[in-house]
Amino acid sequence: MTDTETNHEAEMDVEPNTDGGTDTETESTESDTGPETAETVDSVADTAMPVSIADPDLSADAVDRVVSTLEDGRLADGPEVRAFEDEFAAYCGTNEAVATANGTTALHAALEAMGLEDGDAVITSPFSFVASANAIRVAGGAPVFADIDPDTYTLDPTAVEQVLAERDDIVGILPVHLYGLPADMPALCEIADEHDLFVVEDACQAHGATVGGQRVGGFGDAACFSFYPTKNMTTGEGGIVTTDRDDVAERAASYVNHGRTVSGTGGYDHVDLGHNFRMTSIEAAIGRAQLERLPELNRTRRENAAVYDDRLADLPIDTPSEPTGYRHVYHQYTVRTEDRDALEATLSERDVGTGVYYRTAIHRQPAYETVSSAAAKFPRAERAADEVLSLPVHPGLSERDRRIVVEAVRDHFTSQ
Ligand SMILES: Cc1ncc(COP(=O)(O)O)c(C=O)c1O
Repeated sequence: MTDTETNHEAEMDVEPNTDGGTDTETESTESDTGPETAETVDSVADTAMPVSIADPDLSADAVDRVVSTLEDGRLADGPEVRAFEDEFAAYCGTNEAVATANGTTALHAALEAMGLEDGDAVITSPFSFVASANAIRVAGGAPVFADIDPDTYTLDPTAVEQVLAERDDIVGILPVHLYGLPADMPALCEIADEHDLFVVEDACQAHGATVGGQRVGGFGDAACFSFYPTKNMTTGEGGIVTTDRDDVAERAASYVNHGRTVSGTGGYDHVDLGHNFRMTSIEAAIGRAQLERLPELNRTRRENAAVYDDRLADLPIDTPSEPTGYRHVYHQYTVRTEDRDALEATLSERDVGTGVYYRTAIHRQPAYETVSSAAAKFPRAERAADEVLSLPVHPGLSERDRRIVVEAVRDHFTSQ
């Protein structure tokens, strides 16, 4: 395991974990060893082992399902993929889902399905993984940034309204549910309705997160998820588009499969230009097993987050906010401090894996020089990029791991 950023998040070896799962999402209020305050944390530094920033957790069931799929032989776009689509749509409460090769292609296909045309302007967050804005560009559109809310790190509806007051060429909004916390979907959907804009949710980091009891995935015209290994559930590589709109599902399904007709004769009737963005059956088999465990995996992430909230509360750092009515699924547990680089160095010395998601706001990336003018300023996104640090929160953490993380963070501030 390394905390070096590879394509976008820490890459890791997958060590199958043979724990079984539950399908309930009930929260327990205490950690596995009972409530513990910072004062009662014993010193663990002497026996410290590295604590990784991510650790995919595959059950024996996933292995069995992969073996069955290999034996079945329908490896490309077979019945496992259709079953995974149905089960993921049911989980999100949407009518339809279309599986894809990864989260980026899910976004690309969803935007194509919205009928994005060359140069169409879509508002999105400058503080996200670059794929959120890249997808708009590869689908032929033009990303237009609006600043974030400094507490939630998600698209600020007031900033979106300011953009809309200044421009009349916006066709859609692509909010990002960053770190596992949904963006302000009620406000953003209302703005979209008023201005007749489409909404595509980037839910790549937020499987199972809710607003007002409703899971992300069904707020907008479409939503997109990633199943990269560090995500709350994985298929290795993989993605999916969820939607309540039959026309969007049909266009996305066609686009990911070379523009073939979905209904009708199938086969080699290509009604539109498309790509091969298909998910494999092996990925879908892993996804079906992971989806059964998602409630348990999310619950454990939330328990880990609650432990950190409690034990780091008195330190001069901002811990993640969870607005009333929102259910955060802690894809990342991201703290914020002006002392970020020093804290990052201390944790690295103590073998605690951390991540900075993201060190450079998208409009400041070299690949965006031609998109965003040098004068473009999104001060809240830029400040967040200088101050955020994500701590290990994955479901594989033991109580000992959590103590190591907490003690290292506390030592950093108390030794100053
Ligand atoms: C917010 C966000 N959007 C899009 C993506 C792209 O997903 P993928 O890596 O599966 O293509 C990611 C993945 O890290 C992401 O975090």
